[in-house]
Amino acid sequence: MSIAFEKNLSNWNEYQNTPWGRLFYTIAHQNLSTNIPNKNCQILDVGCGNGRTGIAYAKQGHHITMVDASERIISEARNKTVKAGVDDKIDYLCAEFSELQHILGNKTFDVILFHNIIAYLNDGPSAIKHIYKYLKSNGILSLISMNRYSESYRQILQQYNPKAAQEMLDAKYYTSKLFDTPIRLYSAQEIINLLQMENYSVQNHYGIRCVNDYIFENNIKENPDFFAGLEQLELAMRDQYPYYLLARFFHIIARKDHK
Ligand SMILES: C[S@@+](CC[C@H](N)C(=O)[O-])C[C@H]1O[C@@H](n2cnc3c(N)ncnc32)[C@H](O)[C@@H]1O
Repeated sequence: MSIAFEKNLSNWNEYQNTPWGRLFYTIAHQNLSTNIPNKNCQILDVGCGNGRTGIAYAKQGHHITMVDASERIISEARNKTVKAGVDDKIDYLCAEFSELQHILGNKTFDVILFHNIIAYLNDGPSAIKHIYKYLKSNGILSLISMNRYSESYRQILQQYNPKAAQEMLDAKYYTSKLFDTPIRLYSAQEIINLLQMENYSVQNHYGIRCVNDYIFENNIKENPDFFAGLEQLELAMRDQYPYYLLARFFHIIARKDHK
């Protein structure tokens, strides 16, 4: 699985600097920041990728343990954190999610990031069960994944493809163009139900990119005035009913309750 990410690392770096890539990281950061202390949290970033998310938190004064299955990607994350001058705030672990038990033992964290990872795991529901033990009591789980309801809208509104839109109505998988690999599609409600069964209380449900992915014309997003307006609109919509329900990604913030 990691091969797909390694092979497409340069595409991914490019993606992160597109207007829609920047919107993703800005909105995700804003969502989580309002739910955790300003600094000094111990954060576990599972499937950290090239470290883009973790660097922003390290700059704020949090400590991040970055975990990724790929040596090459962890090394990319290390280079980026050194360049950003925050490597003293980071621990790097090259490990499969399933190996964490051996490596972390009884260590627990204030915050766990599970961003764009559950869709790539064979058994997402058991992963949610498994990470519970790495959170401190009252700790925060931040989970982001692609919204399964977004793809039909994107196919018709961005791609003008009614047949593909219809096919995606009940689809359980989608092939990521960026990584050329299948993604398991979840709805926010499916994840919320799983979290509630595991003794989490859901604090917030946000949408990331409520409208961006349905705008056909991508060039206009490079226009600074248009982009600034789009970013403001996205930030206003992310927690407003019903807009967040149709965003490209859902972002769930959940608190670990006392058992
Ligand atoms: C789509 S990227 C997301 C990266 C980052 N969380 C973000 O949102 O920018 C998924 C990352 O998860 C890693 N990954 C996939 N399966 C994994 C597994 N079973 N254990 C650990 N990491 C994994 C990949 O190597 C890749 O870097």
